[in-house]
Amino acid sequence: MATDKKLGFIGAGNMGEALFKGLLKTKAARPEQIQVSARRPERVQELAKTYGVRGGSNSEVARASDVIVLAVKPQILDQVLREISPEVSQEKLIISVAAGVPIAAIERRLHPPMRIVRAMPNTPATVGAAATALAPGEHATEADLAAARTIFDSVGLSVVLEESQLDAVTGLSGSGPAYLFLIIEALADAGVKVGLSRRASLQLAAQTVLGSAKLLIESGEHPGMLKDAVTSPGGTAIAGLHRCWTTTNAQTPRTAHFSVATDLNVDYRATWHEVTDSGPFKNPYRIGWENFLRHVVEGAPMRTDFAAGIRDVQFAEACYRSIKDGAWVKLDAH
Ligand SMILES: NC(=O)c1ccc[n+]([C@@H]2O[C@H](COP(=O)([O-])OP(=O)(O)OC[C@H]3O[C@@H](n4cnc5c(N)ncnc54)[C@H](OP(=O)(O)O)[C@@H]3O)[C@@H](O)[C@H]2O)c1
Repeated sequence: MATDKKLGFIGAGNMGEALFKGLLKTKAARPEQIQVSARRPERVQELAKTYGVRGGSNSEVARASDVIVLAVKPQILDQVLREISPEVSQEKLIISVAAGVPIAAIERRLHPPMRIVRAMPNTPATVGAAATALAPGEHATEADLAAARTIFDSVGLSVVLEESQLDAVTGLSGSGPAYLFLIIEALADAGVKVGLSRRASLQLAAQTVLGSAKLLIESGEHPGMLKDAVTSPGGTAIAGLHRCWTTTNAQTPRTAHFSVATDLNVDYRATWHEVTDSGPFKNPYRIGWENFLRHVVEGAPMRTDFAAGIRDVQFAEACYRSIKDGAWVKLDAH
């Protein structure tokens, strides 16, 4: 969706630049609609030259814009808000990407009530593949959310959540790239260990993560199902997974645990009685089930004496599949 609004970016570093670059690249906005400010005048000049956008002071940008995107570091946001406060009214939409700064804190520095949307994007915004969560403030309208989505969808995918969920988003998709870079590096290290060049290993590892994520998103399948599709009986993929599971802490099949944790939006404690009493996994599996679900719900240690090695994997996968198939557990729509 294109916008005809005047868009102001206060702060034009990694995130600010990524956002207006995305808007221009997807033709959701034209250069003449965009005005930017930064700390250094030479930075503004460079951006004006590269993208054809206009530059200005923070106050000028705030005054001229219908939508003001605050993309400065959280520690200087307060100072910037004081500076632009005389230029801001409820006629304007404020979008903040400042990590950890609540909407209420921004509104207090301006003139309440204000239309504010808070966003939590991530670094892949710089390559048009961000995962962004948006949270509307009390006075933001549906049209405001749509305007915010136009901006963030131009650099990837966005979802709308409650503001109270943004800390969780910071831990998941905000910090997520760090976890994944670690995984990619580990995969590449493994490639180097078995004789591949560092360059080829990194390319293959990174593309595998990219392709797997694309497959998951485009197919809409559950990750456990896609994992099953890669693991043929007695094959190398299941051998590799088994090796992962049996060499990590407490020898637990983590993938299965995470799958269960994600799928079961029910009270596990109430559920496992039903599961263990009526399911095909009657004793001696019952004790394993209890242990398994307690491990998922309460973080209790996994009993490796009961379910060790390949049996552990098969057991956990069978549990997961049973849940997935709805064979025993009725998953309430949540
Ligand atoms: N990067 C991410 O992946 C990411 C993810 C989620 C949220 N965020 C949030 O995005 C915001 C910006 O992060 P960033 O990574 O883009 O930081 P950054 O690259 O350091 O950019 C900060 C920008 O703010 C400008 N600036 C500094 N003081 C200013 C002032 N007084 N008035 C106007 N502009 C000023 C800087 O100008 P100069 O260029 O002249 O120094 C720079 O353009 C932060 O609040 C962060 O929490 C970032």
